[in-house]
Amino acid sequence: MDRFLIDGGAQLHGEIRASGAKNAALPILAASLLTAEPLRLRNIPQLQDIVTMNTLLAQMGVKLTLGNNMQLDVDASDVQACFAPYDLVKTMRASILVLGPLLARFGEADVSLPGGCAIGARPVDLHLQGLMAMGAEISVDEGYVKARASRLRGADILLEKVTVTGTENLMMAATLAKGRTVIANAAREPEIVDLATCLQRMGARIQGAGSSVITIDGVDKLHGASHDILPDRIETGTYLVAGAITRGKVRIRDTQPELLLAVLSKLQHAGAHIELGDDWIELDMRGRRPRAVDINTSPYPGFPTDMQAQFCALDTVAEGSGVIIENLFENRFMHILELQRMGAKAKIEGNTVIITGCDNLTAAPVMATDLRASAGLVLAALVAEGTTEIRRIYHIYRGYEDIESKLTQLGASIRSLSDDERHPPAGGDHAPATGGPAATPASSAS
Ligand code: EPZ
Repeated sequence: MDRFLIDGGAQLHGEIRASGAKNAALPILAASLLTAEPLRLRNIPQLQDIVTMNTLLAQMGVKLTLGNNMQLDVDASDVQACFAPYDLVKTMRASILVLGPLLARFGEADVSLPGGCAIGARPVDLHLQGLMAMGAEISVDEGYVKARASRLRGADILLEKVTVTGTENLMMAATLAKGRTVIANAAREPEIVDLATCLQRMGARIQGAGSSVITIDGVDKLHGASHDILPDRIETGTYLVAGAITRGKVRIRDTQPELLLAVLSKLQHAGAHIELGDDWIELDMRGRRPRAVDINTSPYPGFPTDMQAQFCALDTVAEGSGVIIENLFENRFMHILELQRMGAKAKIEGNTVIITGCDNLTAAPVMATDLRASAGLVLAALVAEGTTEIRRIYHIYRGYEDIESKLTQLGASIRSLSDDERHPPAGGDHAPATGGPAATPASSAS
């Protein structure tokens, strides 16, 4: 499908489950390359990015067997080609995560440079510097990273910048290196802890995941394991904001509240009443208009950049004004231009946007530009007067499993159309919520 049509005005009420975390599943799928024994993964989300990663692994010779209820068996016992082609890598920058595992297990890897994307240049220089510190010979030729290493050796690596996939790539590579690797200034995201847990189940010796210093003692080989992917904290946060922006009451289950404390704190500042259980979060706005909040994005455990667009949407209809500062990516305000088309009062100054809440937004045709910007547009459409059309929704299918069904379950009026379909009458009976990843990867990475 290509477009969403969303009728604004419904207060969201009800309960949905959180899916497995995209940003944990992607590195863990890449980690399957580290062993000749099968990996059994559960709670894998059905997302376009997962299809892309699976396609990438399959064309190397990895066997993937989809079981029922989100289970996936991955068998890298017969890898034929340590190669990640441009046509796949360009659709998903996280493809770079196969570099460390291929180099560690096979001593070679030819991986296309991911190139930039909508939100920024997205370099991988820190990934390459770390692997060279571990003894890899790396050249970049015709847009491909060509890496060779007879056997990686442990090294002390200080990352100049906190990089999530950089930390993951180097941690995976170090599991099979000879000797000890220490990664300082490591990223601390929960997805890194989940990857480390899976690697430890495979026999890796890792300490400190989740802190800024991770120590890995290399072993000669890793074995198969089973692992449940942790819940998606960004998906959880997105649906909580959907409850807040529509002044409703929503409960997200099968999640982990401790993964998104910075987001919960901001929702409370916005006036939400939050109740927590071991694996659920309930947000209740009691019908009241949210108050505008200030946001300053930073690496975990700070406020996540992946929730920035969602809070911009919230501030556009909140009481008062909010100042939102984006510190991680140089071009992550594309949603602001689209929100302004819906009547949002927002002013961008460098990496800061000042948003003054208005009483209501009005529906308009808008364009999704990247995964989280699209989520911000969906949230705005839920409260805009009229029917908002959001185009290029392939961005959304990359990171939000069953988004139409989940929003419909909460009471939203949303339908998806292909570009050649005309608009059905609003509210008329239309095909049940469908959508979801296509068989082949979509274009444009982020
Ligand atoms: C991960 O991207 C996530 N993706 C992103 O989520 C998330 O926004 C980002 O971390 C920050 O939290 C996955 O985990 C698959 P970075 P990543 O390397 O690892 C600079 C989503 O919506 N940098 O942490 O690619 C970089 O330019 C996606 O799910 C270098 O300079 O981000 C950026 O300014 C979007 N050199 C900063 O570090 C490098 O070698 C953080 O980037 C690597 C990064």
